[in-house]
Parts: sequence; structure tokens; C-alpha cells
Amino acid sequence: MPSGLPSTSPGTLPSTIVILGTGGTIAGAAASTSDNVGYTAAQRPVVDLLAALPQLAGQAIEAEQVAQLDSKDMDAATWQRLARAVARQLARPEVAGVVVTHGTDTLEETAWLLQRVLAPARPVVLVAAMRPATSIAADGPQNLLDAVAVARTPGARGVVAVLAGRVHAAAELRKVHPYRTDAFDSGDAGLLGVVEEGVLRRFRDWPAGEPLGLGVLDRAPADWPWVEIVVSHAAARGDAVRALVAAGVHGLVVAATGNGTVHRELDAALRAAEHSGVTVWRCTRCAQGALVGPNRGPAASMSPWQARLELTLSRLASRGGG
Ligand code: SIN
Repeated sequence: MPSGLPSTSPGTLPSTIVILGTGGTIAGAAASTSDNVGYTAAQRPVVDLLAALPQLAGQAIEAEQVAQLDSKDMDAATWQRLARAVARQLARPEVAGVVVTHGTDTLEETAWLLQRVLAPARPVVLVAAMRPATSIAADGPQNLLDAVAVARTPGARGVVAVLAGRVHAAAELRKVHPYRTDAFDSGDAGLLGVVEEGVLRRFRDWPAGEPLGLGVLDRAPADWPWVEIVVSHAAARGDAVRALVAAGVHGLVVAATGNGTVHRELDAALRAAEHSGVTVWRCTRCAQGALVGPNRGPAASMSPWQARLELTLSRLASRGGG
């Protein structure tokens, strides 16, 4: 049973949207309004981002600062805090949905974590920006308005991300550009929808699935399994894999070439790693598509970082070593 759908008294519809702040460029600040790259992320509190939007005045909106970081520094402890805060808010009958302000750099990892752990029956909408809040053409305010509109959409559920008027489901969300405001893509699956003048036009189903449950994150961050990513490429070597195994790594994701092939030197080291008890998963280093045929496995359609997270969660869920 998906989590996050508390019972409401007959006749009362949940109407509160809770905005959880975690930092990112959407809360970033630069010395000049024309500087879109030389800024510091995670400077403005989430209440300030909301105060800049008179369009939201009069709406039932609450804010909570869960973290204040550049998402490149996302870690297990912050994920625990965020997942618990989302679950706590969704358990309130008056809450229609949760919006999470976040950096773009690891947005897809947090989206996947929340979807896999909570598979919420109400919307959890991640929102970010590519330009700091101080920019003369900041994209954050419109993105935040769009995210609230998606969170208020009747029937909305699951974890999605909203940027540049485009709505992506957690599983397919990929950051594909380091600079432009429309920096995300949903690959072959396509967008979940678009937001036009505050209205969602939806193309496919909301994310669904069985949640692993919040308890899967209970282990102390220092005891989370250690899972690394290695990449197959021309002239690849096995030394890094052997060093990781010697250092005690628990799992490895190999970002393989094309349809799952791995350089023979790296392949030999990975086979030895598996033989010594390290879990090895394979995905493609291609930006789109999924592994087809004999190389298909649990990470066939995942990006390397999504697969790394999935393997971590799977070891946490099975209470495996590490
Ligand atoms: C971050 O990911 O926190 C910084 C970069 C961004 O939000 O675009």
C-alpha cells in the first residue's frame, strides 16, 4: 500500500501545500544580477523564496527548512532527514502535496530515493533552478509557481520534478545540460506533462510502485553500504576496481559501453570482485535507452547514479553487509 494517504473527514479536501527547502541554485545568490555562474548555492531560506511570490498570497502554504546545501554535497544524513520530513508532512490529512526546493546537480538521485522509499499516494514535487535567485532572469520563481500548481493538481501522486514548464517522472529524470534553463530530459519515456499558465497538461500516468518504506533508511549513515561507480572506456584498467575491493567496497555499478559491453581488463577485475562477494550491476553509459538482451539486469534502464542508489537501497532493504 503506498504511503502518504491519510484519511480525511468526509467533505474536507486537503488543501495545504508544504514547501521543504534544501538549498540549491534556486536559493543561490551572486554579487551581480547578471552573473548566472559565479554564485553561491543555498543562500536564501525557503521562506524568502516564497515571500518573492505574491501570486501565492492567500493560499494555504507552509514552509520548512530541512537543509541548506549545494546538492553536489547531498549525503545519506540529509536524505534521511528529507525523507522523514516528506513522510511526516504527507501523513497530515490537510496536506495535499509537498514541494521540495533542491539543487539540480543531484535532483535525479533525490527524486529516485523518495520515489523508491515512499512511492507517495500524494504528489511530491521537486523543483530547482539553473539561475540563482539574484539573477535578472531567475527561473526559480516561475518553476516554484509551476511546482505548486502540479502539487495542487487533483489526482496527482508520486515523485516528479518540475523545471522550465516541463514535468518529469522520478524514474526517467536526467540532467542533460550544465547551463541552459531547460536542463532536464525524460529520454525515451517522454515528459509526464507540461505546465501552461498554472495548469498541468498530462501525457502519461503518475509514478507508482511499491514503496520500500521509510525504515529502509534507518541505518546510521556511516553504516550504509559503500557502492561505487566505475566506467568502461577505451584503454580501461582493472586497478581501480582491485583497489576498491581491497578497501572494502560492497557494491559496484559499471557504466558499460553501448549495450552493456565492458573492456576486457575491467571485466576481468569485475569478475574477480564478484567472486570475492562484491555485488556488481551493469548499466549503460549511453545517455538514453536501456540494455537489451543478455546484459539486461536490475539496472538495465537506469543511469549509473540511479543504479548506484538502487543497489544501495537494495542492500539496505536486505540488511546485507555494509
Ligand atoms: C546544486 O545542485 O545545488 C547547485 C547547482 C544547481 O542547483 O543548479
